[in-house]
Order: sequence, then C-alpha cells, then structure tokens
Amino acid sequence: MPVAEISAVLKEAVAAPDPRLQHLLDHSLTGGKGLRPTLVLLCARFGIHDTLEVRRVAAAIELIHLASLIHDDILDGAAVRRGLPALHCLYGPVPAVLTGDYLFATAFGLLAGSKKAILTTITEAIRSMCSGEILQLTATGPEKKSYFTYIGQKTAALFSAACRCGAILCRLKRPQQNYLARFGWHLGLAYQIIDDYLDLFGSMARMGKPNRQDLARGLLTLPVLRFLELSPEAAPWREKINRGLKAAEIDELIAAARQLKCDEYTAAAAGEQISLAIEALEMLPPNPVQEELALLAARTLNPLYEYE
Ligand code: FPP
Ligand code: MG
Repeated sequence: MPVAEISAVLKEAVAAPDPRLQHLLDHSLTGGKGLRPTLVLLCARFGIHDTLEVRRVAAAIELIHLASLIHDDILDGAAVRRGLPALHCLYGPVPAVLTGDYLFATAFGLLAGSKKAILTTITEAIRSMCSGEILQLTATGPEKKSYFTYIGQKTAALFSAACRCGAILCRLKRPQQNYLARFGWHLGLAYQIIDDYLDLFGSMARMGKPNRQDLARGLLTLPVLRFLELSPEAAPWREKINRGLKAAEIDELIAAARQLKCDEYTAAAAGEQISLAIEALEMLPPNPVQEELALLAARTLNPLYEYE
C-alpha cells in the first residue's frame, strides 16, 4: 500500500467477493510511491478538514491513477510495471482492462458523497488524461509545444487535480486553490519530463521497468526533440526513427544526444518546472505545509542525479 494514512480506506474499497478478482486487485495495488494521494493529504492540511473525507478522495485519486496505469500498459505494450510483470502480461488483456474498469468504478464509489467541486475537478482531470493519450498518438505541429500539451494533459492534470481537491476539502478560497493547482501542474510536468529522461538515459535495474521504450515505439520525448533540434543528422535520424530503430541505433542516438548535452537540457527543463511549482507555493500565506510540499517537489528531481 502506498501511503499508510489511506491504506485502510483502500483495503476496504478493494475487498472483492471473488478470489481471482482479489488477486488482480492486489497485484494492481502493489508498490508505488503514492505521490498523488500524498498531495491531496498535504494540501488539505492548509486548513480544517474532515480527515475521512480527505482520505476517501486521496484513495479515489490513487485508484484512478492505478486504473490508468493498467490501461496505459496495454496501450503501450509494456511488460513491466514497478518491477513486476504488468497485469495484462500475467492475466491477459481482457481481465486487465476489466480490473482497470473495476478500480475506476471503485474510485467513484469512494467519491459518491463528495461535493460537486471535487467531482468536477476529478472528472475534468480524467477527460484530460484521455485526450492527452490521444494527442500523444496524433501530435502534429510545433513538436515541443505539442509535447508540453500532451504531458500536461496525460500527467500534470491529475497532479493538479489532487492538489486542488486538497485545497477544496480544507475550504481554501478560489485564488488559493488555483495556486495549489498550479503547484501540482508544474510538479506533474516535471515528473513526466523526468520519466521521459529516465526512459532514455536511465537504467532498467534502477527504474523497475525496461527503458528505451519511448524511442523504440517512435515516441519523441523532450530529450529526443532536443537532439533532433541540434543534430546536423536530424533528417536521417527522423527517417530511421519512423522506420523503427535497431538496438545499436538506439545506443548510437543516446550517445550522440549525450554529446549534444540533451540530458542536461532535459534535466534543466524539469528543474525549471520545479522552480515554477515552488513559485506558485510561495504565493500562498505562510503555512508549515508549504515546506513539506517544497521538499516533496525538490525530491522529485533526485532520480536525475542517481543515474549520472
Ligand atoms: C503513463 O504515461 C500514463 C499516463 C500518465 C496516463 C494514462 C491515461 C490513460 C490510459 C487514459 C485514462 C484512463 C483511465 C482509466 C483514467 P507513460 O506511458 O509515459 O508512463 P510510464 O512510463 O509509467 O508507462
Ligand atoms: Mg506507459
């Protein structure tokens, strides 16, 4: 279970009548850092709140995230998640899709008694996640702009919603909700940029999942877009990427990208997002929770320096 405070709510919510379904659910809930529910819990500490209500919303957001990962692994054809076989590899795509749907419905069961603003915030984030996934498939136009749009939609939207929900639950006024939502948004962008950095420059052993998947699938993430911006060989590289890269070509591209400091550029882009997140936090009236949120944001960057 990710966050101790919500483990009882999660356990009760995913207690299934059938042992096979229980296996599927237990596997889905194994591992993970529980970043999104932590954001709900921390942001709610800006004011007086109902602890059980906050835990229910935090658990619901975690379940929506887990459902999206199950579906994402099917869409991406990914075999490993959090160091374990992806659910669809263990049980097949049909039970996996249905487990995702089951978790999704369970999340809304937890939200049944929530106020309209919470439901609107969460449903808007889910719509955004779906449209971000679609945009990722079909992105055209200025590439970096499209990249930031789709990572915003697919990843930052749920981070931002988690923070806004915490703010709503402790009855912060709209401008303060907006600052926390902005904090979550930039943190989410940084998180996805780092995920994309690690996919290219990280190692499988450290990440708990095979890396170099994005490039192998022809997905152009920020470090590769930077490489294509700088490399004099960009046009032939684009052709090779479209055709499908061989392992040796991926090695070659990564080495050339390092030479052109695309790793440093990408790490700096993540750092910029963390600075923007912290700037948004600083707009709020002083509160001890700010420090915890700032620390959490700063720690997000750590994996970049563990892979040097
Ligand atoms: C991971 O991205 C995936 C997401 C951030 C969102 C996935 C969203 C959907 C599948 C649509 C919404 C579905 C539901 C059930 C809410 P990634 O592939 O870049 O990250 P990874 O490296 O962790 O796989
Ligand atoms: Mg994926």
